[in-house]
Amino acid sequence: MIQGHIESRLQAATTAVLPEADVSRVLVRVCADAKHGDFQSNALMGIAKQRQMNPRQLAADVVSQLDVAEWCEPVKIAGPGFLNFRLRPEAVNAALQIALASPMPFITPAATSRTVVVDFSSPNVAKPMHVGHIRSTILGDTLARVLRLLGHRVVTDNHLGDWGTQFGMLLFGWKTQLDEAALAADPIAELERIYKLINGDEALRDDARAELVKLQNGDEENLGIWQRMIELSQVQFDHVYSRLAIEFDETLGESFYNPKLAGVVEDLISKNIAEESEGAMAVFFPDNAQLADKPAIVRKSDGAANYTTTDLATLQHRLAEWAPDEIVYVTDGRQQLHFQQLFTIFRRWQADAPVRLEHVWFGSILGSDGKPFKTRSGEVVRLADLLDEAQERAYAVVSEKNADLDEAQRREIARVVGLGALKYADLSNNRQTDYVFDWNKMLALQGNTAPYLQYAYTRVRSIFRKVDAPNFSNIILAVTAPEELALAKHLMNFTQILEMVTEDHRPNFLCNYLFELAGHFSRFYEACPVLKAKEETERESRFALCELTSRVLKTGLGAMGIEVTEVM
Ligand code: ARG
Repeated sequence: MIQGHIESRLQAATTAVLPEADVSRVLVRVCADAKHGDFQSNALMGIAKQRQMNPRQLAADVVSQLDVAEWCEPVKIAGPGFLNFRLRPEAVNAALQIALASPMPFITPAATSRTVVVDFSSPNVAKPMHVGHIRSTILGDTLARVLRLLGHRVVTDNHLGDWGTQFGMLLFGWKTQLDEAALAADPIAELERIYKLINGDEALRDDARAELVKLQNGDEENLGIWQRMIELSQVQFDHVYSRLAIEFDETLGESFYNPKLAGVVEDLISKNIAEESEGAMAVFFPDNAQLADKPAIVRKSDGAANYTTTDLATLQHRLAEWAPDEIVYVTDGRQQLHFQQLFTIFRRWQADAPVRLEHVWFGSILGSDGKPFKTRSGEVVRLADLLDEAQERAYAVVSEKNADLDEAQRREIARVVGLGALKYADLSNNRQTDYVFDWNKMLALQGNTAPYLQYAYTRVRSIFRKVDAPNFSNIILAVTAPEELALAKHLMNFTQILEMVTEDHRPNFLCNYLFELAGHFSRFYEACPVLKAKEETERESRFALCELTSRVLKTGLGAMGIEVTEVM
């Protein structure tokens, strides 16, 4: 990656001028405004400030030691001491040439591969997956895919909510209220019905509690029913996952950790991390301003462990099993306190574990009224219904545009477009802001949407339907026009964007990048004839640029679990 080469040379030149300077922060970044150059570094100004040196003088001294002529025009010093780099067209063409021969154009795997556990989706058994889970599922899947593209080792783990007080009510309801036919038709709906029935009746609390205690004490009958509820729910979850092409390496639900919970609490007590408080065991955070008045319970007064205890056991298991460099938890923002407590306890418990812990949280999905997204009758929207509706609505759009395609083709395109639109709508927003769910906006063929990018892809591909497939291995890249160069340079930034996505856990960076890519392509296509290029060499070079654009579009969308089609 040229950017990386320039950065190493800049660091070497800085060391030549200031041998004792820490150059690890001397970074080269893509210029926000192409007017100034392609890459930029502002690091020397910081170094000059620290040492009370004249920043422009330092910049001039470093530039005199800097050799980047292979890739760049003469380096410019701007303002108080920025360095601006502009790529030479020869360097751009050389990079394109390498990309054209690569199975993964413009992707440079990370120098050191990290192990990252991604904990996402994690719905609760016997409850339908709702739109809140869609965000976790889609965001988590994308983070996992992007990490893998960059060569990292990823373990995806679905931390199912398969244990807890709700099972008392479910068990009592199962034994007294179950409608077998309804269960066969739609298990989760029936489980939900019996849950609501029992939960809504104060008089049945004690009966439900008694069933829960029996389950916790290993009662065979209750364990059997509980197991069936998990299996029935899993079938429905799996159905949604397969429609969304989402796979998990592990599905270790909360119950998996039950045998380990007592040990965790004992250990916390013996290390003076947890202490008795009103009959329960709790961890206090006196030195933490945010948590000072928010202790975390790790064992309730009735002896039961809870969500925090389970998550501590889960952390311990993951460290032992996979030795991850990072664990990412994708849940909604309401769990921020839980994860602050969890991470703080963990740091006290295992002070030197070299693992980065990240709570990747997201905001709510709102209806057009600005309130949490619900069905018309005020019910929680089920994910499966949402997928159906996305495909149905996309089918209408596709049929209108392509009346001549046969039914099966239109259905398949509608599947790709509908699911793509739904995923992209979720990913293209800043995950921490609430967003309004809007079918028309997400399915629009204009704007920053999946259908727009999928359509851009078909437009590029259509060029190759009009000619015999070029033999790309013989093509010599020779881009010169400003629109060609702008497109090519944007393609060259692909890896940096993927890295930014994994660093900040923000897929919207990738969405913006692809949206801009489609824009660069349009400008190129308007300004530079491809099929009607004057020279054979020019035409072939442009074919190659089209090919590379389509591959990056496809890989970029694929990194979000979004498919493309050849026609639309
Ligand atoms: N089951 C939880 C929920 O639906 C999410 C679990 C997230 N993962 C974790 N390790 N706590 O809210």
